Amino acid sequence: MIESVTVPSPHRVPAPCPYFGRCGGCRLQHLDYPAQLRFKEKQVRDCLERLGAAADFELRPILPAPNAYGYRNKMEFTVAGGGGATVIGLHEADRYDVVLDTERCLLQSEAMNALLAEVRRQARERALAVYDQESGQGLLRFVTLREGRRTGDRMVNIVAAAPDVESLQPVAEALVAQVPSTASVVLNVNAKKAAVAVGTEEHVLVGRDHITERLDDVTFQVSANSFFQTNTLQAERLFTLVEQACELTGGETVLDLYSGTGAISLLLARRCRHVYGIEVATAAVDDAIRNARANAIDNCTFLAGEVRHVLPTLIREGVTAAVVVADPPRAGFHPKALQALVALAPARIVYVSCNPATLARDVGDLLRQGYRLEWVQPVDMFPQTPHIEAVARLRRA
Ligand SMILES: C[S@@+](CC[C@H](N)C(=O)[O-])C[C@H]1O[C@@H](n2cnc3c(N)ncnc32)[C@H](O)[C@@H]1O
Repeated sequence: MIESVTVPSPHRVPAPCPYFGRCGGCRLQHLDYPAQLRFKEKQVRDCLERLGAAADFELRPILPAPNAYGYRNKMEFTVAGGGGATVIGLHEADRYDVVLDTERCLLQSEAMNALLAEVRRQARERALAVYDQESGQGLLRFVTLREGRRTGDRMVNIVAAAPDVESLQPVAEALVAQVPSTASVVLNVNAKKAAVAVGTEEHVLVGRDHITERLDDVTFQVSANSFFQTNTLQAERLFTLVEQACELTGGETVLDLYSGTGAISLLLARRCRHVYGIEVATAAVDDAIRNARANAIDNCTFLAGEVRHVLPTLIREGVTAAVVVADPPRAGFHPKALQALVALAPARIVYVSCNPATLARDVGDLLRQGYRLEWVQPVDMFPQTPHIEAVARLRRA
């Protein structure tokens, strides 16, 4: 722990958020934005050179985010306390038992902050019971806010321990009255001990069961439990970069590994013959199929299952692909999935990574299997946090 700062770094800036230092959300607010970018860029280079033994590649300058604050389209807050002293906010850093009463979060929009304030006011005024992790008693557990940046739609998802629609309906109506762009207020019921903001049953309290968001010219239906990129504006730029890296001419078959709700597949579908998306979460696959239909995109096939199982099956069925895009979770590729990718032998691989260490490990393996790393471009999706995204383009030698 730092006790005092004797000589401040020239890059130290006053953190604008009053919760900075305690809140687990942002850890780099005290570093000016250009220094944050240099820090992230250096980590990508260090990982690739030291862990991946990659040498002869172009490290493109990191792509800064268009907004250093207010960029998140989704925030998840925990409810704690109780009675008139209900607190709703983010956890203290490394303390899952301490919740800060976050009156305003600088990573979300002012409309989302207005919704957060109204939920808190309603919970206190109505003295709604707060769930207690120890006893398993009480109602309110989490509040998740979502916003369609390109559409202006907003969603409040109240996660509670019981389907108490009667108590929560008036809260939902007050939220819509306060922020009229609120297109959806839903109740997700999680009666289990596990402290997760995902329910096993959902009740629509007001409006629709989803909001809409646009990336480029593709419209997505985003439900309470759907995965969707949390920084819309920077996701558009990230996916434009992916599209350019694919160098599509119209006739290719493309594989989108770890395809989530299909954002990359649907954006690439306009530029190639066919896209196969592979994703383990069946709910995400359902969303991808629904979004393809809603956008009249009929050249995508979404397959549910682990890449290490589904990819070898596709290969056995005779599918070949000129281009593979992969956007794995932090753990990167499973060795069997990487082995299948090498067996498929696409001419180009566009690897989107949220963890430079596993990117470097997997790139190292691909280099040994006859691929050349052409360029890597870090992309800052999450200013004020240490998270780093990068796109790497590999070509079969
Ligand atoms: C970083 S996200 C990709 C998101 C996607 N590109 C999008 O924008 O919707 C990683 C995805 O990999 C999925 N996943 C994790 N392990 C997997 C596996 N072994 N096989 C297939 N998909 C997996 C996760 O469910 C998640 O949707």
